[in-house]
Amino acid sequence: MGNTRISEMAENLQGSEIIKLAGEIKEKMAQGEKIYNFTIGDFDPKVFPIPTELTEAIINAYENGETNYPAANGIAELRAAVAKFVKDRLNLDYSADEFLIAGGARPLIYAAYQALVNPGEKVVFPVPSWNNNHYSHLSAAEKVMIETAAENNFMPTAEELIPHLSEAGLVALCSPLNPTGTVFTAGGLKAICEAIVAENNRRGPNEKPVYLLYDQIYWVLTHGDTTHVNPVEVCPEVKPYTLFIDGLSKAFAATGVRVGWAFGPKKIINAMKSILGHIGAWSPKAEQVATATYLNLNGEVENYLTGFKSDLNDRLLAFYDGIQNLKDKGYNVDAIHPQAAIYLTVKFDIQGQTTTDGHVLETVEDVCAYLLNEAKLAVVPFYAFGASQTSPWFRLSVGTSTLDSIAACFTQLEHALEKLT
Ligand SMILES: Cc1ncc(COP(=O)(O)O)c(C=O)c1O
Repeated sequence: MGNTRISEMAENLQGSEIIKLAGEIKEKMAQGEKIYNFTIGDFDPKVFPIPTELTEAIINAYENGETNYPAANGIAELRAAVAKFVKDRLNLDYSADEFLIAGGARPLIYAAYQALVNPGEKVVFPVPSWNNNHYSHLSAAEKVMIETAAENNFMPTAEELIPHLSEAGLVALCSPLNPTGTVFTAGGLKAICEAIVAENNRRGPNEKPVYLLYDQIYWVLTHGDTTHVNPVEVCPEVKPYTLFIDGLSKAFAATGVRVGWAFGPKKIINAMKSILGHIGAWSPKAEQVATATYLNLNGEVENYLTGFKSDLNDRLLAFYDGIQNLKDKGYNVDAIHPQAAIYLTVKFDIQGQTTTDGHVLETVEDVCAYLLNEAKLAVVPFYAFGASQTSPWFRLSVGTSTLDSIAACFTQLEHALEKLT
């Protein structure tokens, strides 16, 4: 075979860490094993279907022939509907032409990196977090990863970020955060935004500013008394530097529908529109028409979200209570009380313990394998999101779980933990 080398970028591109893990789990399931698989950041449509009215609107749109190219920045009706959604629910004032629609949040994040970061420039982001490492690689940026602390619910603090701001081109934040399901407090976020504004004032008008990417794709899914906060609300001066990432995927269990939106300063939105236009990463036109119709059905949206959030919260609390119960019995486990999204942050601090066959769980991989083999429990270690290899924390996703499966899973888990010495 001849020389097969391709571009440096592609040669060094890493696949998704989570998809790798999923392969092993699928293999076991294919062999007929019952696995409690809580690794997937997605929804089982049988458990969590999209809203009925959205399904109907999508079918109607296809029947009405909405099948040609959409406008490059998204159809006007959808941009207007999303601007209203954001104004009504978050009190954010953005006009319809400060929005860009695309085929989900992913292309928008990619375009944001391309629009905001020069090759070699530094992108600062907390870990654990979702996929910033890959987007940095795709834009040839230098990664500056800040490992966050459990005491801060794994959210970064201004003190942790400030030392890196003077050389940064972009700060990439996410709240509610994947993988933790935790959120920024207003004070915590405000301090970070103020530091970004201060850094840009220091740079002056001729230097490229440091931008803030704020991924709030899970913001609708807050639980209990948790509220979602955003940069512009806590620090209006940061608005010229802030780009929001948002969309339908998680808020309406519509990950396969592919409708996302970004909003922020017009110059950035226009640049992203051109980048994505060349890629053709538009959201399908019929889905855009349908989403515009659906988002304007206020009562139906409210009903759907009330039921959906309550079902998610029930599951998160069932896991949380189960883990607390094991902790009370003396096992080395813990969890952070659920705040938002579809994730629970769980600690299995069992590295160094010994199995019945005398095997020591040396690494987090060993812990994962033990949980999978003995408890039939599959969760994602935080190192898959860039945290250190020894972090005892894991992401547990409830998007595909039923309440019955949670009860059954704890019986197995306790049995597995009991056998360790
Ligand atoms: C934080 C975060 N942002 C963006 C996305 C991607 O969303 P989409 O499916 O709309 O591309 C995900 C998906 O897992 C996510 O967790």
